[in-house]
Order: sequence, then structure tokens, then C-alpha cells
Amino acid sequence: MNIDVIISADHIKESQIKDKVVVVIDMLRATSVITTAIANGCNKVIPVLTVEDAFKLASKDRNSVILGGERRALKIDGFDLSNSPLEYTKEIVQNKDVIITTTNGTKAINGCKGAYKIYIGAMINGRAVAQLVKKENKDIVFLNAGTNGQFSMDDFICAGYMIDCITENHEVQLTDIAKTARYIYENNKDIDSYIKEARHYSVIKSLSLESDLAYCMKKDILSVVPEFKNGEIKNAL
Ligand code: MLT
Repeated sequence: MNIDVIISADHIKESQIKDKVVVVIDMLRATSVITTAIANGCNKVIPVLTVEDAFKLASKDRNSVILGGERRALKIDGFDLSNSPLEYTKEIVQNKDVIITTTNGTKAINGCKGAYKIYIGAMINGRAVAQLVKKENKDIVFLNAGTNGQFSMDDFICAGYMIDCITENHEVQLTDIAKTARYIYENNKDIDSYIKEARHYSVIKSLSLESDLAYCMKKDILSVVPEFKNGEIKNAL
């Protein structure tokens, strides 16, 4: 089994993900939102690329769906929810379809077609994802959503955490970048002081969304593993 890391949605090469198990990470905040919505009992999450696509899809049955996501980290006009995971409570999402569009996260998810399987990971479900992908016994690629095509420290340490969980009692081959992600995690296990240096951390903080940051940095509070298949995300377990 080989493990690799891709640093942003703009760096995906088809040959790098073809027939591999891909784990998409956008821990601040898209994949934390999706994981929370699935854990709180929504029927499914549909990740779309544009605001127009989201409205079009929702218009078929506007009252039965939740529209969520962000542009510039802020709620989109006419949407029900922003990209704050704390808004995706059981009371709001249970038995609903959630249509979501975000700047980087939903782009990354939709960009890895051709993969053998596509899972959604964050710190909040990191160990559950690691346990499942280990069982697949296939090559794994952690696809970091990144930020506008740039490397993101937060997604990188999150990949490092999952690689650390996978390699605890398991022989695997790591690429240099996968080794580096694990090294970063191993040397910053509290993760806070490292993630605080990330650019997107300051963006979220400047919007007074510290509670989102605290939530997204928690390890393993959820045990669901969202899987993207045929355009929809549901729990794989
Ligand atoms: C994204 O998909 O770009 C992010 O999740 C942005 C955000 O934090 O809202």
C-alpha cells in the first residue's frame, strides 16, 4: 500500500488518483461541515461547483432541501446556512438533502472522479477515515483542498494525522510529501499552535468564528465516514 498527498484541488493529476482510494480534506471548513451534516442525520449532501447550480438543483423542491456553503467564507445570499459546521444541527438537517457549494472543498470533491473510492475526511472523523481506508488495502491519496490552488497548512496536518493513524500498526510506503505530513503532525500533536499560523485560520478568526475553529480542530468526535459516489455524499459505514 502506498500513501501520497496532493496539496490542492488545482494540483490533481488524473494519473495520480486513478483507481486509488482518495480522501478529500478541507478541515477549515467544508469537509468538517459535510461530516457534521452526515453525522446529524441528513439524507445526503450534494456538493456542487457553483451558486447557480445549487439554486437550480434546489428549485426542484426548495422547501425540502437545505442550501449551504460560502463565498469568501461568508453565507451566500438566499442560502439557508453558511459554511459553519455548528449550524448543521440535527434539528435542521435530519432527513433533509443538503446542497452545498464552497470555494475549495466542493471543487476538490468534484475534481477526483476516476478514483476507486472517494471519502471525506477532517480532524473530527480522522481516525474513523483512517480505519476504513486501511481496510480497503489499496493505494491511498490524501487530496487537500488547499486555498485557491495554494498549499494549506491546516489540510496538510490533517492528512498527517490520518497517515499517523494508518501507520500506527501497519506497513505502508509513504511518498516524501506523505512522510512530511506525518512528520508535521508528529511534531505538533496538539495541532492548535501549528494551525494558528495558517492563513485561512486568520480569515475565519477575523470573522469572529473562533467556535468554528475550535470545533474543526477537535480530533475524532465523530465516527461517520462520508463517501462521495454518483454525485452524492452518504455515510460509508
Ligand atoms: C472552502 O471550501 O474554501 C472552505 O471550506 C472555506 C470556508 O472556510 O468557509
